[in-house]
Amino acid sequence: MTSRPGERERARDLLASAGRVLILTGAGISAESGVPTFRGASGLWRNFRPEELATPEAFVRDARLVWEWYGMRREAISRCEPNVAHLAIAEWQLRDTNVGLATQNVDGLHADAARTARRPHAASDADGSEPHGRLLELHGAIFRSMCASCGIRSDHREPIDASSLATLPRCSSCAGLLRPDVVWFGESLDPIILERAFRWAEEADVCLVVGTSAVVQPAASLATVTRDTGGAIIEVNPERTPLTSVATVSIRDTATSMVPAIVPTLPPSGRPPGSASKI
Ligand code: OAD
Repeated sequence: MTSRPGERERARDLLASAGRVLILTGAGISAESGVPTFRGASGLWRNFRPEELATPEAFVRDARLVWEWYGMRREAISRCEPNVAHLAIAEWQLRDTNVGLATQNVDGLHADAARTARRPHAASDADGSEPHGRLLELHGAIFRSMCASCGIRSDHREPIDASSLATLPRCSSCAGLLRPDVVWFGESLDPIILERAFRWAEEADVCLVVGTSAVVQPAASLATVTRDTGGAIIEVNPERTPLTSVATVSIRDTATSMVPAIVPTLPPSGRPPGSASKI
C-alpha cells in the first residue's frame, strides 16, 4: 500500500472545507467487520460466483439454491458489527446534514452504525427507522424481503429454512414466494433512490469513495458526476481502481485506519446547516 505524502492532510482539508459531501461505499468498508467482499478470494461459494446466483434467472431456475446462499450470507452478516469507519461516517452525518451516503452494500451495517450513533439523541429524535434520511442503499438490503408475486416489501430477519421449496419464506398477504430485496444482476436500481443519489453527486463538492472496486454501474459513475460538475474525488482503497487515475486524492489504505482520520470532527464554520456551496 503506498500513497503520496500529505494525501491524508489534503483529504482532510478538502472534506473540512466542502459545502456538501457524498460518500460512496462498497464491500471494502465492511470487509474489516468480517463481511466477505464480492470480488475477493472469499467471494466464491461452492464454486458459484455471485454473478451466477444473484440473478432473476437463477431464482426462477432454483429458488431454493438462491435462498440457501442468501441464508448463509445473512447468517454470516448477522454476526458482524459496524466498524470504526461505519461509525465515523454515521457520527459525521449526525453532525452535518450536508453529508449524504450512498452504499452498494446490502449488509445493513451503515444503518446499524447510524442507530448506534443516534442512541444518545434518541429522546429528541422520533424517526428511528430510516437513519438521517440520507442513507441511500443503492442495491437494497439483505434483511428485507420482497414478494416475487405482489411486490410487497418487509423487514425479514428470521432464519431461512432452504431445505426444500416448501419451506422457503412466503408472503403474508398473497402467499407468493419471497425473495431478498436486493438488486440482482440484470435488474434496475430503484429509480427514486438513484435519482436522489445522482442529485447528491451533482451537488457535492467532494465525493468520498471508500472500499469499492468501482466496476459496477451506475454506482461507480456517481463519483465521476461529482468530478464532472466541478467537485473533487477522494478515494480510500488499499488497491488501485478505475477511479484512481481521475481521483483528486487517492489514499492506499484501509477504511478503518483512514476514514476516522479524515472526516471532519466539527461542522465547517461559517456555513449554515443545510446549505451547499456548489448549487
Ligand atoms: P468488490 O468486492 O468488487 O470490491 C471491494 C473493494 O474493497 C476492492 O476494491 C478492495 O480493494 C477494497 N477493499 C478491501 N478491503 C478493504 C478495506 N479494508 N478498506 C477499504 N477498501 C477495501 O465490492 P463492491 O465494489 O462493493 O452488486 O462491488 C460492487 C457491487 O458489485 C456490489 O454491490 C454487488 C457486486 O456485484 C450487486 O449485488 C448488484
